[in-house]
Order: sequence, then structure tokens, then C-alpha cells
Amino acid sequence: MDKIVIEGCHRLEGRVRINGAKNAALPIMAACILLNGPSRIKGIPDIVDIQTQSEILKNLGGEIKRFEDGTFEIIFRDGENADRFIAPYELVKKMRASICVLGPLLSKRRKAKVSYPGGCVIGQRPIDLHIKGLKALGAQIETAEGYITAAADRLKGTEISLMGQYGTTVLGTCNVMTAAVMAEGTTIIEHAACEPEVQDLANFLNKAGAKIAGIGEDRLIIEGVRELNGVDYEIIPDRIEAGTFMIAGAITKGDITLENVRTEHLTAVIDKLRDIGVEVVADNNNARIKGSSLYHNVDLTTLPYPGMPTDMQAQFMALLCTVEGKSIITEKVFTDRFMHVPELIRMGADIRIEVSSAIIRGKPFLSGASVMVSDLRAGAGLVLAGLVAKGTTQIDRIYHLDRGYERLEERLSKLGAVIKRISD
Ligand code: EPU
Repeated sequence: MDKIVIEGCHRLEGRVRINGAKNAALPIMAACILLNGPSRIKGIPDIVDIQTQSEILKNLGGEIKRFEDGTFEIIFRDGENADRFIAPYELVKKMRASICVLGPLLSKRRKAKVSYPGGCVIGQRPIDLHIKGLKALGAQIETAEGYITAAADRLKGTEISLMGQYGTTVLGTCNVMTAAVMAEGTTIIEHAACEPEVQDLANFLNKAGAKIAGIGEDRLIIEGVRELNGVDYEIIPDRIEAGTFMIAGAITKGDITLENVRTEHLTAVIDKLRDIGVEVVADNNNARIKGSSLYHNVDLTTLPYPGMPTDMQAQFMALLCTVEGKSIITEKVFTDRFMHVPELIRMGADIRIEVSSAIIRGKPFLSGASVMVSDLRAGAGLVLAGLVAKGTTQIDRIYHLDRGYERLEERLSKLGAVIKRISD
């Protein structure tokens, strides 16, 4: 298993280009099941989760080609592969997002059998809202032997609320939307997720011929259509990758410029960085991050979009561990997503968990240690902490990082970090 080793305390400087958004690319790739003919999609990052999604789609009869410039061609053809509707455990277990083939399969092939994604290290991840939405559209759904089996004749439009105990659901909205675009009649999704990645999926589907209104609002109105066709499309830049690099600049008190950023997708992140004392200058599709030696402690709460993303929580925690004073981070999306806390404590951080909040007393410095990654964003938080820790930090289980960040260590190294990957 590969490791990352970082020698801390090097200031970052320079420019880095942000890739297309993983969490937009995954459901958009799955939505290609609905389309007749080839789609050419630009900006899909070269990461392990995309490889997993490609395997799942190939297993369902998709033809997938990646060109040298990174563009993907994905082809499904109407009338072919009607008998292929299974996403097996061996593939689904690698990545929860594979659940987003459920809606497109059900709509297009009238049947879907998808391995239950189960819980995961960031806390309970039920799919009751996905199932509720698909049942409302007329699907019969059973869960047995670790699989969700869904069947329907043509789905029928209806009114559905996706409000759950912790707010709405991102992939649940994607699943219900992709099922509804070819349903008979009109579907109204109340309490739909508004995340930019959900908007990107809706824009992709509209380009392919769907009729989705209310994109970016919490009420989607979808007129079912009979056919959707392959399109050329470019995925939005990854706001979480951008936010992670922003904190890399801030935590090392550096001066870096991110290219290919949609700062309007990062309002909550940028506002909080400015409250801390980081200078953020947005200019067209670039964002310049200038760190300072005078930062202020802050409190933050993760919320669905446009609030602070839960996927930025671990990265902000790393930064706040180095800012003197008491900061409180409250996690409202995945209430026990704190697996990075014991690892940050190993690096000298002072953090106490109380229910779904982390109380952080910032210190002037962290110290290098051996730590282990539990999930993708926890890993990003540990890398950021390693960039400023005194001495050497060794990070194990970095396959989690490879799921979502393309060549992270190479790109940080180009900015001046002393970081390398060690393969066993
Ligand atoms: N929830 C339910 N019932 C459901 C679905 C979700 O109660 O049927 C709850 C969850 O337990 C959680 C909350 O609703 O408390 C939000 O979960 P959501 O369904 O929105 O999460 P997701 O769609 O499974 C996506 C991202 C995650 C990101 C969350 C929240 C992808 C592939 N994954 O997950 O990204 O944290 O939305 O924004 O889009 C990551 O990239 O590292 C990652 C984990």
C-alpha cells in the first residue's frame, strides 16, 4: 500500500489547475445509461472512483473510451443491453456513488438490481429517501440478500418530497431526477438538493433533451420525455478540490493561484477563509489565495448547499488546529464524521468532540507523526496538517485520497511542498 511522506513547514507558491468535479462526473456518467448514442464529456478527473464507475457502466453494456486530453466518450444505444441491469457487490462496495445507476437503470431498462451500499466510515448513510422517491414514481422495490431490486413499467410523474432527518439528499435527488426525466407526465421534487453537482447533472440531462425546470432551486419540475440523445458536455470544476487547495495556500501562509474555479460555488468557503484572515481574490475563473501570519479563530457549521460543505470540514479543522484561540466546528450533514480527529490529535492538535461538534484549541504548531486515512476528506485534512507540521508526517492508507484527488502529491510538490509518495 502506498504512503505519503511530508516534510512540513514549506510555504506554497505558484499556480494549480482545478479538475472537473468528481461528484458531478459520477452521476453524469451513470445518466449516460438513459442516452441514445455517444456522449463526449470533458473534465472528468483521472481518479479511482471514476475508474470504478467506468467498470460498473461497462458491466452494464456501456462502451467507454478515454482520450489523451482526458475527454471521455461514453456510448449506450437504445434497444441494446436490456438484459443487463445488475451492479454487483464486488464493484459497488468500492464506492457508494455507484448507487446512482439505480434511477437510470430503472427508467431505461425497467429493472435494476444494485448492491446495497451499506454504511461507511463517515457515518450512517441510509438510502431510504432514494427508495421513497422511486416508489412514488411507481417502482416496486425490494431489498434482500444485500441487493436493492427495483422494477417498473413506464414510471409515472408525481409529487415527491426528499426531506429527511438531516435535510435533503444529493445522490437521492440525482436518482429520482434521472428516473423522472423519462417518466410519463410531470414530476415535482420538493426539497431537492441544490448542490452545484446536482445542477450540473440537470444541465447535462437538459442538453440531452430532458425538460427540467427549477435547476438550483429546491423545487424541481420535470416534464417526462420519450428519448434522450448523446451530447458533448464539460463538467464543472471541483469546488471541494478547489477548497482543499485554498486551505493548502492558507495553512502554509503561501500565495497560490487556482485556475479553473467557479468561486460562486464556494461562497461559504471563501467567506469563512476571509473571516479567518486569508486574502482571497477572485478574478474570472481564477482565485488567488494569500496567507497571513495573523489568523482569527472562528466557528463553523456544515450544512447542505449553499452552506459550508461537509466535504470541507476536515480541511478547515486542520487549518483551525493551527489558529490560536477556540474554534467550534459543528457537523450537521454526517453528524459523526470525525474520524480524522484522533489522527490530528496524534499530530499534537487539541480537539474535543461533544456530540456533533469538535471544540478545537488552536496551537502555534503541529508536529509530524504517523497517521492513517479513514476516508477521502479526512485524508485531505491530514495532508494539509502535514504541510505545516514540524518534522515528518507519514500518511498511510492513501488509497482513500486516490479515490477523489488526481495526483495530489505531485500538484502540491509543484507548489513547493516537500511531499512524496512511497510505494511498498
Ligand atoms: N440521508 C438519509 N436518507 C437517504 C440519503 C441520505 O437520511 O436516503 C442522510 C445521510 O445520512 C446524511 C444526509 O442525508 O446525513 C446527506 O446525505 P446525502 O444523501 O446528501 O449524501 P450522498 O448523496 O450520499 C454526496 C456526496 C458526498 C457528500 C454528501 C453531502 C457524492 C458521490 N457524494 O453523498 O461526498 O459528503 O453528498 O454533501 O456525490 C465525498 O466526496 O467525499 C463525499 C462523501
